[in-house]
Amino acid sequence: MLTTRVCDVLGIEHPVILGGMGSATNVDLVVAVSEAGGLGVLGATGLSPDQIRDSAAQIRARTSRPFGLNLLIAFTTGEQLDACLQARVPVLSTAWGDPAAYAARAQEAGVTWMHMVQTAAQAAEAARLGAAVVVAQGHEGGGHVGEVSTLPLVPAAVDAIAAALPGVPQEQRPPVVAAGGIADGRGLAAALALGAAGVLLGTRFLATHEAPIPDAAKRAICAASEADTVFTPVVDLVQRPGWLEIGAQCRALRTPGVMEWVGREAELRQLPEEERHAIGARWSQARQEGDTDAMAILAGEDSGLIHEVLPAGEVVRRVVAEAEDVLRALRRYGGA
Ligand SMILES: Cc1cc2nc3c(=O)[nH]c(=O)nc-3n(C[C@H](O)[C@H](O)[C@H](O)COP(=O)(O)O)c2cc1C
Repeated sequence: MLTTRVCDVLGIEHPVILGGMGSATNVDLVVAVSEAGGLGVLGATGLSPDQIRDSAAQIRARTSRPFGLNLLIAFTTGEQLDACLQARVPVLSTAWGDPAAYAARAQEAGVTWMHMVQTAAQAAEAARLGAAVVVAQGHEGGGHVGEVSTLPLVPAAVDAIAAALPGVPQEQRPPVVAAGGIADGRGLAAALALGAAGVLLGTRFLATHEAPIPDAAKRAICAASEADTVFTPVVDLVQRPGWLEIGAQCRALRTPGVMEWVGREAELRQLPEEERHAIGARWSQARQEGDTDAMAILAGEDSGLIHEVLPAGEVVRRVVAEAEDVLRALRRYGGA
């Protein structure tokens, strides 16, 4: 069975983690991934402290396996963090923002802390702050991503963590998990070859029965090729300008609703707020009506590897089984 150090650190069976994708995750999805032996992570950034406590209780009522709650540091409050820690969540997953205070609080509370980064320098910082797991997220991924691609980022993060913790043996350093552009077992095998100990998948888990996004958006991801996404500030200019203030932008499918503004960002920036809200309202309406052309759908380049909507547990099982096959096939290059 394919098991790695990240499995020991997180108490899971398979090195496959669900990205804590905000309102694109729910209790069903988290439970399905955790029950299949991966780590289900609920995106908690948009939840009130009461909703966080309630969601953690609902997850616990349906699985005894580990799970995580995810907070985007730049967009959450101390009360949300308190709620996660009071719920004694097995894994606190964080991303985007200064992690120092969250790291200290998680450590005081004895909660396993996993942090997602976009550069090797950030990986080194997370390791110095005591992260149990560092997720290296590349530019190919869906949602908000950095500028560095997964292939160079993962080994650079592994090396930067080793350099940041001189004298600490490899088995005591935080394992790196690769994210961004990974949707199948070939990606998991490649991540292991790069020095990662597992993978975190976002887009692949959007196209599952459990994911709480419109069926039309799931079908659009299955229909998209690897060339059908765009890394753009357009989505945030319309919906969440706060992201641009922290220097991030996101990857979305090249739907006409988004592409209408790509190349016209300066014009979009100049629009009065009500007009930008009106564009956002049209995207939301399109989501309700299942009109994929008119909506914004955050998704990664790995959309091109996703062809069917599956149960989330099946995704975990297939990714692991495929990776095992790939690793067996690769042995012929090892001279054995
Ligand atoms: C719709 C969507 C929403 C996301 N929201 C979050 C979030 O709230 N917190 C977070 O840590 N990552 C978030 N992400 C990023 C994922 O955790 C993950 O890093 C990314 O999806 C990996 O790339 P992939 O989509 O190619 O698998 C989101 C991604 C998507 C597609």
